[in-house]
Amino acid sequence: TQLPAFRNEPFTDFSLPGNKAAMEAALAKVKAQLGRDYPLWIGPDKIMTERRVESVNPGDTDVVVGRVSMASAELAERAMQQAAEAFETWKKVPARERAAFLLRAAELMRQRKHEFSAWMVYEAGKNWAEADADTAEAIDFMEYYAREMIRLNETNIHRPLTKVEGEDNRLAYIPLGVGIVIPPWNFPLAITVGMTTASIVCGNAVLLKPSSLTPVIAAKFVELMAEAGLPAGVIQFVPGSGSEIGDYLTAHPKTRFISFTGSKEVGLRINELAARTAEGQIWIKRVVAEMGGKDGIVVDETADLEAAAKAIVASAFGFQGQKCSAGSRAFVVDQVYDQVVERVKQLTEALAIGLPEKNYPVGPVADRSAYRKILDYIEVGRKEGRLITGGGKAEGNGYYIRPTVFADVGGRARIMQEEIFGPVLAIGRAKDYREAVRLYNDTEFGLTGSFFSGDEDRISYALEEMHCGNLYINRKCTGALVGAHPFGGFNMSGTDSKAGGHDYLLLFTQAKLTSRKT
Ligand code: NAD
Ligand code: ALA
Repeated sequence: TQLPAFRNEPFTDFSLPGNKAAMEAALAKVKAQLGRDYPLWIGPDKIMTERRVESVNPGDTDVVVGRVSMASAELAERAMQQAAEAFETWKKVPARERAAFLLRAAELMRQRKHEFSAWMVYEAGKNWAEADADTAEAIDFMEYYAREMIRLNETNIHRPLTKVEGEDNRLAYIPLGVGIVIPPWNFPLAITVGMTTASIVCGNAVLLKPSSLTPVIAAKFVELMAEAGLPAGVIQFVPGSGSEIGDYLTAHPKTRFISFTGSKEVGLRINELAARTAEGQIWIKRVVAEMGGKDGIVVDETADLEAAAKAIVASAFGFQGQKCSAGSRAFVVDQVYDQVVERVKQLTEALAIGLPEKNYPVGPVADRSAYRKILDYIEVGRKEGRLITGGGKAEGNGYYIRPTVFADVGGRARIMQEEIFGPVLAIGRAKDYREAVRLYNDTEFGLTGSFFSGDEDRISYALEEMHCGNLYINRKCTGALVGAHPFGGFNMSGTDSKAGGHDYLLLFTQAKLTSRKT
């Protein structure tokens, strides 16, 4: 049977009273479940360990969201053995059947969409719209990769090989083996679901090591996959310390691939460790590493300046700037510079700060260490630019920081070059659009960018010259949609894997050619 064509899950309009009430009910339901304990999932066993990571609400640090068991190296080893065993049967399950598990899980998640979002409101400090978009993207990934697996499995129909008389030639995309899936905390559902389900739908078995900041929402996803009927052992859930079990699993000879999304520092470490051949290892490990960004928006004098200012503010401060795609830099041409800076200031100052549960536009940053790091960068910014607004802590029983804008920042300043991953925007002045594009490109990263202009020739110039994986014209640089905007970056932003695109599953498969005499 033919599946309906992929469509993005619509975002929820919370201005409608019915939707608002549904979200409030989900928040109340989830609130009643806070503070519980969660096990590891290893093969058929659920194991509660003594050592647990305590997940705290960053918006109200007196609230414990849950306590999640932590795997030691010994338990990680057990999980590896279970995954290797499960792989032997899972790889033989037909592609359409594997895809059906994703479709079932997507349907279950859709039914309880606001509950999944509510977990992220408490655990990650997302406001309602940000959490809703995260859940929608998770549903999209499952719907999309299920279809992609079916398409890949029918590659001989869609992309036939050259015909040779007397031969029956076929290409099959077979799985790789056991993979380690390591997501970040900032899209704790979407990226966790995307990386895990892409791996398993291809026939691989995985060890999922979630971020220690958001292990509860990851546990909810693992529960959901079991509810969808996924056989035990296809996903092992092994939260734990990155340096302890992360390194252990990366170096393990049975690890076939590592699918990582996170910081440049950890991504490079994994890449280096994985490149060493362990005793008994019979393959080159494949590393898919999506890393940081220092993304930016360029505005010229022919642009719709109101639209540009709104996009700058939305890209810089959506989810407190904690997106790899966040527009933490803006370059504006001299002629309209003061006007754009002034409008950015007004729009930024209109953003209210407060508890995610109450749906304030700006909430807390991730944890104490992010909080300190961002406040330190704000002090650096005071020396490197002109403070326009913000500049420090905000009220609240959590990690609240005022959205902060610095203007007149030079291209080589630290706050123009280093990923801050918080609500800090650096604006630079350019003499014309060409200089602005040159300043935009002056970074080791290359994830997202936007160009605002009303001039077709300049847009053509920007389309060619701005060097990043996801380039947008006259719109914000965050909010890629599965299927429409395959996502991944250049240079130190990673391996440009293009999650949510047609090429993604190729990364978790290997192609086997068979040629038979007829
Ligand atoms: P992080 O690098 O600190 O952690 C990412 C994951 O790696 C976590 O699960 C962590 O526990 C694990 N880890 C830490 N040390 C490890 C080790 N030695 N071995 C194996 N795993 C280890 O990143 P983060 O703070 O969770 O996320 C924020 C970063 O992620 C930012 O740099 C952001 O730009 C990036 N990010 C990139 C994308 C993208 O698609 N390019 C998307 C989201 C986030
Ligand atoms: N995919 C996310 C975005 O585009 C990170 O904002």
